[in-house]
Amino acid sequence: MNPAATPPLTALKQKHLLGIADLTPAEIVLILDTAEAMKEVGQRTIKKVPTLRGRTVINLFFEPSTRTRTSFEIAEKRLSADTLNVAIASSSVVKGETLVDTAMNLEAMAPSMIVLRHASSGACHLLSRICQAAIVNAGDGMHEHPTQALLDAFTIRERKKKLAGLKVAIVGDLLHSRVLRSNVLLLTKLGAEVWVCAPATLIPPGLTQMGVTVTTRVDEAVEGADVIMMLRIQLERMQGAYFPSQREYFRTFGMTEARVARAKPDVIIMHPGPINRGVEIASEVADGTQSVILDQVANGVAVRMAVLYLLAGEPQINTAAD
Ligand code: CP
Repeated sequence: MNPAATPPLTALKQKHLLGIADLTPAEIVLILDTAEAMKEVGQRTIKKVPTLRGRTVINLFFEPSTRTRTSFEIAEKRLSADTLNVAIASSSVVKGETLVDTAMNLEAMAPSMIVLRHASSGACHLLSRICQAAIVNAGDGMHEHPTQALLDAFTIRERKKKLAGLKVAIVGDLLHSRVLRSNVLLLTKLGAEVWVCAPATLIPPGLTQMGVTVTTRVDEAVEGADVIMMLRIQLERMQGAYFPSQREYFRTFGMTEARVARAKPDVIIMHPGPINRGVEIASEVADGTQSVILDQVANGVAVRMAVLYLLAGEPQINTAAD
Protein backbone atom coordinates (compact mmCIF):
# COMPACT_ATOMS: atom_id res chain seq x y z
CA MET A 1 0.00 0.00 0.00
CA ASN A 2 1.22 3.49 -0.78
CA PRO A 3 1.65 5.20 2.64
CA ALA A 4 1.05 8.58 1.01
CA ALA A 5 -2.45 7.40 0.05
CA THR A 6 -3.29 6.43 3.64
CA PRO A 7 -5.06 9.21 5.56
CA PRO A 8 -3.27 10.11 8.83
CA LEU A 9 -4.67 8.47 11.97
CA THR A 10 -6.56 10.62 14.42
CA ALA A 11 -7.25 8.08 17.16
CA LEU A 12 -5.87 4.93 18.77
CA LYS A 13 -7.73 1.69 18.21
CA GLN A 14 -7.09 0.29 21.66
CA LYS A 15 -8.58 1.40 24.95
CA HIS A 16 -5.43 0.62 26.99
CA LEU A 17 -1.71 1.23 26.50
CA LEU A 18 -0.21 -2.09 27.55
CA GLY A 19 2.85 -2.21 25.31
CA ILE A 20 4.48 -1.07 22.08
CA ALA A 21 3.74 -4.55 20.73
CA ASP A 22 0.08 -3.54 20.35
CA LEU A 23 0.76 -0.32 18.41
CA THR A 24 1.01 0.04 14.65
CA PRO A 25 3.71 2.32 13.18
CA ALA A 26 0.95 4.83 12.29
CA GLU A 27 -0.31 4.84 15.89
CA ILE A 28 3.22 5.44 17.19
CA VAL A 29 3.60 8.39 14.80
CA LEU A 30 0.20 9.71 15.93
CA ILE A 31 1.36 9.68 19.57
CA LEU A 32 4.65 11.42 18.68
CA ASP A 33 2.88 14.07 16.59
CA THR A 34 0.33 14.66 19.35
CA ALA A 35 3.18 15.00 21.86
CA GLU A 36 4.59 17.88 19.78
CA ALA A 37 1.36 19.80 20.34
CA MET A 38 1.45 18.89 24.03
CA LYS A 39 5.04 20.12 24.31
CA GLU A 40 3.87 23.53 23.12
CA VAL A 41 1.34 23.61 25.99
CA GLY A 42 4.24 22.99 28.39
CA GLN A 43 6.11 26.02 27.04
CA ARG A 44 3.30 28.44 27.93
CA THR A 45 3.22 30.55 31.08
CA ILE A 46 -0.05 28.86 32.07
CA LYS A 47 0.72 25.20 31.37
CA LYS A 48 -2.83 23.89 31.52
CA VAL A 49 -5.63 22.93 29.13
CA PRO A 50 -9.12 21.68 30.09
CA THR A 51 -8.95 18.52 27.96
CA LEU A 52 -9.43 15.95 30.75
CA ARG A 53 -11.53 18.06 33.08
CA GLY A 54 -13.88 15.80 35.06
CA ARG A 55 -11.79 12.66 34.45
CA THR A 56 -10.09 10.91 37.34
CA VAL A 57 -6.67 9.30 36.88
CA ILE A 58 -5.15 7.05 39.56
CA ASN A 59 -1.39 6.50 39.66
CA LEU A 60 -0.76 3.08 41.19
CA PHE A 61 2.97 2.45 41.54
CA PHE A 62 4.03 -0.77 43.28
CA GLU A 63 7.70 -0.12 42.42
CA PRO A 64 9.81 2.98 43.09
CA SER A 65 9.84 5.70 40.45
CA THR A 66 11.03 9.29 40.16
CA ARG A 67 10.68 10.23 36.49
CA THR A 68 7.66 8.18 35.38
CA ARG A 69 5.41 8.87 38.37
CA THR A 70 6.10 12.59 38.56
CA SER A 71 5.81 13.13 34.81
CA PHE A 72 2.49 11.25 34.67
CA GLU A 73 1.21 13.39 37.53
CA ILE A 74 2.37 16.61 35.86
CA ALA A 75 0.85 15.44 32.55
CA GLU A 76 -2.47 14.69 34.24
CA LYS A 77 -2.51 18.07 35.98
CA ARG A 78 -1.66 19.92 32.75
CA LEU A 79 -4.65 18.21 31.15
CA SER A 80 -6.87 19.23 34.14
CA ALA A 81 -7.62 15.65 35.23
CA ASP A 82 -8.41 14.92 38.87
CA THR A 83 -5.32 12.93 39.75
CA LEU A 84 -4.30 10.97 42.80
CA ASN A 85 -1.34 8.83 43.78
CA VAL A 86 -1.85 5.67 45.80
CA ALA A 87 0.94 5.42 48.37
CA ILE A 88 1.50 1.67 48.41
CA ALA A 89 3.46 1.72 51.69
CA SER A 90 0.47 3.21 53.53
CA SER A 91 -2.22 1.32 51.59
CA SER A 92 -3.91 -1.97 52.46
CA VAL A 93 -1.44 -3.73 50.17
CA VAL A 94 0.80 -3.95 53.27
CA LYS A 95 -2.02 -5.93 54.98
CA GLY A 96 -1.92 -8.44 52.16
CA GLU A 97 -4.58 -7.09 49.78
CA THR A 98 -3.93 -8.44 46.30
CA LEU A 99 -3.36 -6.43 43.12
CA VAL A 100 -6.76 -7.54 41.78
CA ASP A 101 -8.64 -6.62 44.98
CA THR A 102 -6.79 -3.30 45.16
CA ALA A 103 -7.71 -2.53 41.55
CA MET A 104 -11.35 -3.60 41.95
CA ASN A 105 -11.76 -1.34 44.98
CA LEU A 106 -10.18 1.62 43.17
CA GLU A 107 -12.35 0.79 40.15
CA ALA A 108 -15.46 1.09 42.35
CA MET A 109 -14.66 4.81 42.61
CA ALA A 110 -14.98 5.13 38.81
CA PRO A 111 -11.61 6.41 37.62
CA SER A 112 -11.22 6.98 33.89
CA MET A 113 -7.68 5.64 33.87
CA ILE A 114 -5.27 3.72 36.08
CA VAL A 115 -1.53 4.19 35.49
CA LEU A 116 0.15 1.05 36.81
CA ARG A 117 3.75 0.15 37.60
CA HIS A 118 4.21 -3.36 38.97
CA ALA A 119 7.05 -5.85 39.44
CA SER A 120 5.13 -8.62 37.65
CA SER A 121 5.28 -8.86 33.85
CA GLY A 122 1.66 -9.02 32.67
CA ALA A 123 0.16 -7.14 35.64
CA CYS A 124 -1.21 -4.46 33.28
CA HIS A 125 -2.75 -7.07 30.96
CA LEU A 126 -4.43 -8.66 33.98
CA LEU A 127 -6.02 -5.38 35.08
CA SER A 128 -7.07 -4.55 31.52
CA ARG A 129 -9.21 -7.70 31.55
CA ILE A 130 -11.06 -6.84 34.77
CA CYS A 131 -11.23 -3.04 34.86
CA GLN A 132 -13.50 -0.62 33.04
CA ALA A 133 -10.85 2.10 33.41
CA ALA A 134 -8.19 2.43 30.72
CA ILE A 135 -4.94 0.85 31.94
CA VAL A 136 -1.67 2.61 31.13
CA ASN A 137 1.49 0.54 31.56
CA ALA A 138 4.13 2.54 33.47
CA GLY A 139 6.48 -0.46 33.55
CA ASP A 140 5.58 -4.10 34.24
CA GLY A 141 8.35 -6.39 35.45
CA MET A 142 10.82 -7.19 32.69
CA HIS A 143 8.10 -6.95 30.01
CA GLU A 144 7.46 -3.42 28.69
CA HIS A 145 7.75 0.27 29.53
CA PRO A 146 5.92 1.73 26.53
CA THR A 147 5.85 5.41 27.49
CA GLN A 148 9.63 5.32 28.04
CA ALA A 149 10.16 4.04 24.49
CA LEU A 150 7.74 6.65 23.16
CA LEU A 151 9.55 9.50 24.91
CA ASP A 152 12.88 8.09 23.71
CA ALA A 153 11.60 8.02 20.12
CA PHE A 154 10.22 11.54 20.51
CA THR A 155 13.63 12.75 21.72
CA ILE A 156 15.49 11.02 18.88
CA ARG A 157 13.07 12.39 16.28
CA GLU A 158 13.34 15.88 17.75
CA ARG A 159 17.14 15.80 17.37
CA LYS A 160 17.56 13.75 14.20
CA LYS A 161 14.29 14.67 12.42
CA LYS A 162 13.72 11.00 11.61
CA LEU A 163 13.99 7.47 13.01
CA ALA A 164 14.21 5.32 9.88
CA GLY A 165 17.74 4.40 8.89
CA LEU A 166 19.41 5.61 12.10
CA LYS A 167 21.91 3.31 13.80
CA VAL A 168 20.87 3.03 17.47
CA ALA A 169 23.27 1.21 19.81
CA ILE A 170 21.68 0.02 23.07
CA VAL A 171 24.29 -1.00 25.65
CA GLY A 172 23.82 -2.31 29.18
CA ASP A 173 21.73 -4.73 31.21
CA LEU A 174 19.59 -6.15 28.42
CA LEU A 175 18.42 -9.13 30.44
CA HIS A 176 16.38 -7.27 33.05
CA SER A 177 15.28 -4.31 30.93
CA ARG A 178 11.66 -3.58 30.01
CA VAL A 179 12.99 -0.36 28.45
CA LEU A 180 15.06 -2.46 26.02
CA ARG A 181 12.10 -4.54 24.94
CA SER A 182 9.82 -1.54 24.30
CA ASN A 183 12.58 0.34 22.48
CA VAL A 184 13.48 -2.61 20.25
CA LEU A 185 9.82 -3.07 19.32
CA LEU A 186 9.32 0.63 18.59
CA LEU A 187 12.60 1.37 16.81
CA THR A 188 12.37 -1.67 14.53
CA LYS A 189 8.72 -0.84 13.69
CA LEU A 190 9.84 2.62 12.58
CA GLY A 191 12.80 1.39 10.54
CA ALA A 192 15.84 2.11 12.73
CA GLU A 193 18.89 -0.19 12.62
CA VAL A 194 19.21 -1.43 16.20
CA TRP A 195 22.36 -2.92 17.73
CA VAL A 196 22.34 -4.27 21.29
CA CYS A 197 25.41 -4.98 23.41
CA ALA A 198 26.04 -6.56 26.82
CA PRO A 199 28.12 -9.27 28.46
CA ALA A 200 26.87 -12.70 27.35
CA THR A 201 25.36 -13.23 30.83
CA LEU A 202 23.08 -10.21 30.37
CA ILE A 203 21.76 -11.03 26.88
CA PRO A 204 18.26 -12.57 26.93
CA PRO A 205 17.33 -15.17 24.31
CA GLY A 206 15.28 -14.16 21.28
CA LEU A 207 16.75 -10.74 20.54
CA THR A 208 17.99 -11.65 17.07
CA GLN A 209 14.47 -12.79 16.18
CA MET A 210 13.28 -9.30 17.13
CA GLY A 211 15.31 -7.89 14.25
CA VAL A 212 18.34 -6.48 16.06
CA THR A 213 22.08 -7.17 15.79
CA VAL A 214 23.53 -8.62 19.00
CA THR A 215 27.18 -8.20 20.02
CA THR A 216 29.33 -8.43 23.13
CA ARG A 217 31.83 -5.92 21.68
CA VAL A 218 30.88 -2.38 22.65
CA ASP A 219 33.23 -0.74 20.12
CA GLU A 220 31.44 -2.60 17.33
CA ALA A 221 28.02 -1.56 18.65
CA VAL A 222 28.83 2.16 18.83
CA GLU A 223 30.88 2.37 15.59
CA GLY A 224 29.15 4.97 13.40
CA ALA A 225 26.09 5.14 15.67
CA ASP A 226 23.65 8.05 15.48
CA VAL A 227 22.27 7.27 18.93
CA ILE A 228 23.85 5.56 21.95
CA MET A 229 21.29 4.46 24.52
CA MET A 230 22.73 3.24 27.80
CA LEU A 231 20.76 0.95 30.09
CA ARG A 232 21.11 0.78 33.84
CA ILE A 233 22.70 -2.22 35.52
CA GLN A 234 19.68 -3.40 37.54
CA LEU A 235 21.46 -4.66 40.64
CA GLU A 236 18.14 -4.98 42.50
CA ARG A 237 16.95 -7.65 40.02
CA MET A 238 20.21 -9.66 40.09
CA GLN A 239 20.43 -12.69 42.33
CA GLY A 240 23.75 -14.05 41.06
CA ALA A 241 27.02 -12.62 39.77
CA TYR A 242 26.56 -11.58 36.15
CA PHE A 243 30.00 -9.92 35.89
CA PRO A 244 33.12 -9.97 38.10
CA SER A 245 32.76 -6.44 39.57
CA GLN A 246 31.28 -3.04 38.79
CA ARG A 247 34.81 -1.74 38.11
CA GLU A 248 35.37 -4.54 35.58
CA TYR A 249 31.97 -3.89 34.00
CA PHE A 250 32.80 -0.21 33.53
CA ARG A 251 36.20 -1.06 32.06
CA THR A 252 34.65 -3.42 29.46
CA PHE A 253 31.20 -1.95 28.76
CA GLY A 254 31.06 1.52 30.36
CA MET A 255 30.41 4.46 28.02
CA THR A 256 33.47 6.68 28.06
CA GLU A 257 34.43 9.67 25.91
CA ALA A 258 36.88 7.41 24.03
CA ARG A 259 34.08 5.01 23.10
CA VAL A 260 31.70 7.82 22.16
CA ALA A 261 34.37 9.06 19.74
CA ARG A 262 33.81 5.93 17.61
CA ALA A 263 30.21 7.00 16.90
CA LYS A 264 29.10 9.72 14.48
CA PRO A 265 30.30 13.22 15.48
CA ASP A 266 26.69 14.30 16.12
CA VAL A 267 25.76 11.20 18.13
CA ILE A 268 23.32 11.73 20.98
CA ILE A 269 23.70 9.96 24.34
CA MET A 270 20.56 8.65 26.04
CA HIS A 271 19.76 6.92 29.32
CA PRO A 272 16.28 6.29 30.78
CA GLY A 273 17.56 6.85 34.33
CA PRO A 274 18.31 6.40 37.10
CA ILE A 275 22.02 6.44 36.22
CA ASN A 276 24.74 4.39 37.89
CA ARG A 277 27.60 6.84 37.34
CA GLY A 278 30.91 5.11 36.82
CA VAL A 279 29.21 1.75 36.23
CA GLU A 280 27.44 1.91 32.84
CA ILE A 281 28.33 5.51 31.99
CA ALA A 282 31.08 8.01 32.84
CA SER A 283 29.91 11.30 34.34
CA GLU A 284 31.69 13.25 31.56
CA VAL A 285 29.46 11.44 29.03
CA ALA A 286 26.23 11.64 31.04
CA ASP A 287 26.73 15.37 31.63
CA GLY A 288 28.46 16.15 28.31
CA THR A 289 27.27 18.25 25.38
CA GLN A 290 26.00 15.22 23.43
CA SER A 291 23.83 14.00 26.30
CA VAL A 292 20.05 14.37 25.90
CA ILE A 293 19.25 12.57 29.14
CA LEU A 294 17.42 15.51 30.71
CA ASP A 295 15.63 16.22 27.40
CA GLN A 296 14.24 12.70 27.69
CA VAL A 297 12.85 13.56 31.12
CA ALA A 298 11.34 16.83 29.90
CA ASN A 299 9.78 15.13 26.87
CA GLY A 300 8.25 12.49 29.13
CA VAL A 301 5.61 14.98 30.23
CA ALA A 302 4.52 15.84 26.67
CA VAL A 303 4.49 12.20 25.57
CA ARG A 304 2.44 11.13 28.60
CA MET A 305 0.00 13.99 28.00
CA ALA A 306 -0.38 12.70 24.43
CA VAL A 307 -1.00 9.13 25.59
CA LEU A 308 -3.60 10.16 28.20
CA TYR A 309 -5.33 12.47 25.74
CA LEU A 310 -5.51 9.85 22.98
CA LEU A 311 -6.70 7.10 25.32
CA ALA A 312 -9.40 9.45 26.62
CA GLY A 313 -10.74 9.57 23.05
CA GLU A 314 -11.09 13.33 22.75
CA PRO A 315 -11.91 14.40 19.17
CA GLN A 316 -9.32 17.19 19.05
CA ILE A 317 -6.84 18.97 21.28
CA ASN A 318 -8.48 21.86 23.05
CA THR A 319 -5.57 24.28 23.19
CA ALA A 320 -7.52 27.04 24.87
CA ALA A 321 -6.04 28.08 28.20
CA ASP A 322 -8.01 27.04 31.25
N1 CP B 1 12.98 5.77 33.41
C1 CP B 1 12.24 5.46 34.48
O1 CP B 1 11.32 4.65 34.39
O2 CP B 1 12.61 6.10 35.63
P1 CP B 1 11.83 5.95 37.00
O3 CP B 1 12.04 4.53 37.49
O4 CP B 1 12.45 6.95 37.94
O5 CP B 1 10.39 6.21 36.75
